[in-house]
Amino acid sequence: MSATVQDSSVMDDLVSSFIPISVSTLVPSSVVGIELFQEEQDDRRYVLYRGSDYPLEQIDLVKLRSRGVNKLYIRKNEQASYQSYLREMIDNPGANVPVSARAGALNEVVRDLLGSAFRSGDPNASVSTATYLGEQTADIVCSDQFASIDLFRVLHHDYATFTHSANVAFYAGMLAAEIGFSQEDVAQIASGGLVHDLGKLQIPDKILCKPGRLTELEFREIKMHPVTGFRQLVHREDLTEGQLMMVYQHHERVDGGGYPVGISGDEIHPWAKICAVVDVFEALTSNRPYRTPMPKRRAIEVLEHERDGYEQEFLECWKKITNKLWQS
Ligand SMILES: [Fe+2]
Repeated sequence: MSATVQDSSVMDDLVSSFIPISVSTLVPSSVVGIELFQEEQDDRRYVLYRGSDYPLEQIDLVKLRSRGVNKLYIRKNEQASYQSYLREMIDNPGANVPVSARAGALNEVVRDLLGSAFRSGDPNASVSTATYLGEQTADIVCSDQFASIDLFRVLHHDYATFTHSANVAFYAGMLAAEIGFSQEDVAQIASGGLVHDLGKLQIPDKILCKPGRLTELEFREIKMHPVTGFRQLVHREDLTEGQLMMVYQHHERVDGGGYPVGISGDEIHPWAKICAVVDVFEALTSNRPYRTPMPKRRAIEVLEHERDGYEQEFLECWKKITNKLWQS
């Protein structure tokens, strides 16, 4: 069965009516329930790959990967059905759902839910979403079968505050688990990671995405985001002190060189120190409108260069986790 969408006169409309999905979020022997398309050699034509009620098998996924196909496409108006498929997989993972597929699915759901919660401007929505997603993240990163290599592969690396927050949450959860925090703490640390940059939503995109040098005034505005986020959340009883400190202190540095206050050493909460390491790593290794992502090894070198600013034990632990990336 094959159909091609290729009328050039409506091509631009068609391109905007399809959205990419990661192959790593698809589970073998599952019926996605929506039509899956493949892009034909970058010429913006979409060919039906799989009908909505036709199951995907392990061999199909293996063949796609061996051809270097990491993305398929769905119609934009079926995004809600795709999100339901992912939610079902996350909430009721069957025995055949690999941890990497769960992690990929969760990253998609986090981006979608957090994106709408953030855009609503309602801290209630953001915190309750973050709590649910933090628990799911902890469940994955504390799993025996979890491998960090899978996670790096399945995460998105585009630029958006909620994508950054989704990745920071995973990384913070992984680091906390490796340090030895309990699963309950890992869940709270992951959800703290989801809201750590909430204050950035008050900053206009033209400043956040500015390619050139920031003026002093613009830099001062950016440096206010930990304070803004903290003020938005400080009266909430459903966040712990550690989570609030992740919001308020994630740009503080152990050597006193950070902001907004310039505190140092033990004045900084350990969870904020975890957030600091993974926040910088994520920012360096993701796409920005004005630069390409830095290779992970180079990002570690940057962290090394600034090592006095980070808790040594946490930085070493993060290096141990990322080391697996180039050893495999
Ligand atoms: Fe930040």
